[in-house]
Amino acid sequence: MKKINLLPIMLLFMTACNSDSSSGQETKGTTNNSPGVSKVQKPDSLTQVYNLGKKLYDNTCLQCHQTSEERTVGPGLKGIFERRSVDWVTRWTRNSQKVIASGDPYAVKLFNEYNKTVMQSFNYDNSDMQALLFYIANVNRGNQPYLSLD
Ligand code: HEC
Repeated sequence: MKKINLLPIMLLFMTACNSDSSSGQETKGTTNNSPGVSKVQKPDSLTQVYNLGKKLYDNTCLQCHQTSEERTVGPGLKGIFERRSVDWVTRWTRNSQKVIASGDPYAVKLFNEYNKTVMQSFNYDNSDMQALLFYIANVNRGNQPYLSLD
């Protein structure tokens, strides 16, 4: 299975672009609470990514998904990256029916639990997808530094 792992590359790219400005606060923290997740500060460049993600989320996901734990048409997405990997959420968002058809037990169970409501497919390119997932990962974190997904 191919793991989508472009956010760190994007972060590096943005750090490079920003290196001649005075807002270069992209210090990566050293504390890791869970594997594959690292803490970063809140530079403007990442806030732009977050805001793009929020726009995409509000336009295309919010009608069925709260960012809290509350169930509406679909599950609340709070804590989704504790339940599922970035790769899984990416594949699911691009084509949930394909994930279900592959026999993925989690997907099949969830689909049945939601009375086989079909979630439509979203054909986001990698950078929009990263922004969307970045928003979902950070929306409940208040003033804490951003989590990057890697
Ligand atoms: C028309 C309603 C609808 C829309 C719009 C929608 N979803 Fe869903 N989503 C669902 C339903 C219903 C499920 C539960 C599984 C099923 O029935 O397929 C689900 C499940 C999920 C899950 C798995 C949740 C978990 O707890 O494991 C993720 C992740 C997800 N959706 C992401 C998204 C994202 C990201 C968007 C926007 C790009 C989106 N969905 C838009 C209806 C929707």
